[in-house]
Amino acid sequence: AGNGDGQHQPDGQASEVERAAAALRAGGLVILPTETVYGLAADAANPRAVAAVYQAKGRPSFNPLIAHVADVEAVRRIAVLDERGEALAAAFWPGPLTIVAPVRDAGAVSDLARAGLDTVAVRVPGHPLSRALLAAFGGPVVAPSANRSGRPSPTTYADAIEETGPASAAALDGGACRVGLESTVVALLPGEPARLLRPGSVTRAQLEAVVGPLAEAEADAKRSPGRLALHYAPDAPVRINEITAEPDEAFLAFGRSDSPFNLSPTGDLAEAAANLFAMLRAADRTKPSAIVVAPIPDEGLGEAINDRLKRAAGYVG
Ligand code: TXA
Ligand code: MG
Repeated sequence: AGNGDGQHQPDGQASEVERAAAALRAGGLVILPTETVYGLAADAANPRAVAAVYQAKGRPSFNPLIAHVADVEAVRRIAVLDERGEALAAAFWPGPLTIVAPVRDAGAVSDLARAGLDTVAVRVPGHPLSRALLAAFGGPVVAPSANRSGRPSPTTYADAIEETGPASAAALDGGACRVGLESTVVALLPGEPARLLRPGSVTRAQLEAVVGPLAEAEADAKRSPGRLALHYAPDAPVRINEITAEPDEAFLAFGRSDSPFNLSPTGDLAEAAANLFAMLRAADRTKPSAIVVAPIPDEGLGEAINDRLKRAAGYVG
């Protein structure tokens, strides 16, 4: 583990990256910082390692995982990227975008990691430590968020260690995650319009500027089977779109407020996204009777924030 600052001690980090790559080769799990959230990484081609990820998270069923690779050439080796995929890759990779596409090399990402589907989810992350680990390891790495199932995704090293540290053979400290929400997931399947499966910090408008109008994913839950209600729930019940809270409740403000929990005092959506999961956890630690969240505008990045909040509140299946 480092010191919470991804920029210092380059020599120490180089050997930590090597140790983490060796742990992956040995079938072990690695706590991996990305620009979105911390992941629990394993060798995508090793079914036993992938099974250990599901076990460590306590996932109720085998939801498919995202294969993380170092660059777009590596993506083309495992998935079939059409013109739309190439355009999205050029616009947003490395970065917080995941593309679901037909699988090309079924051996590179084990059946278990794909939950038996003939498609694969792929992403080229932008965080320097995830890039360094992927380069050192050389193959695709699955990395679901490093939380135990049903808990908020970890966005700091300490939260990741608290969630799945005991199950990991190595851990890389990349500091606080810049984005703070999981990647945008878009499906590009032959003969179908591009489909938004999970909103994220690459917004609907940004995607549509590249691939044209998106199809709705709502009627299509089985294409992204990981999206369960209460997926992001803290221990306290969550209510959203409220202006005030009772004294025994924790209020997560957005914009000017006296509340000790404020997603963004200036009303900045990127700041609110980066703070969301860490602040849900911080509020939860005060053992409130409920966590009450201020209204968040539903435009741009707000769509992804509200998606996660509705899930935390149990509104979405
Ligand atoms: O930002 C992120 O994406 C983080 C970091 C660590 O990279 N990872 C992450 O992974 O959020 P996970 O496993 O928590 O979410 C994967 C999502 C799930 O909603 C899953 O259902 C969907 O991607 N998915 C994976 N493979 C799929 C496939 N073949 N078809 C449809 N959806 C798929
Ligand atoms: Mg997750």
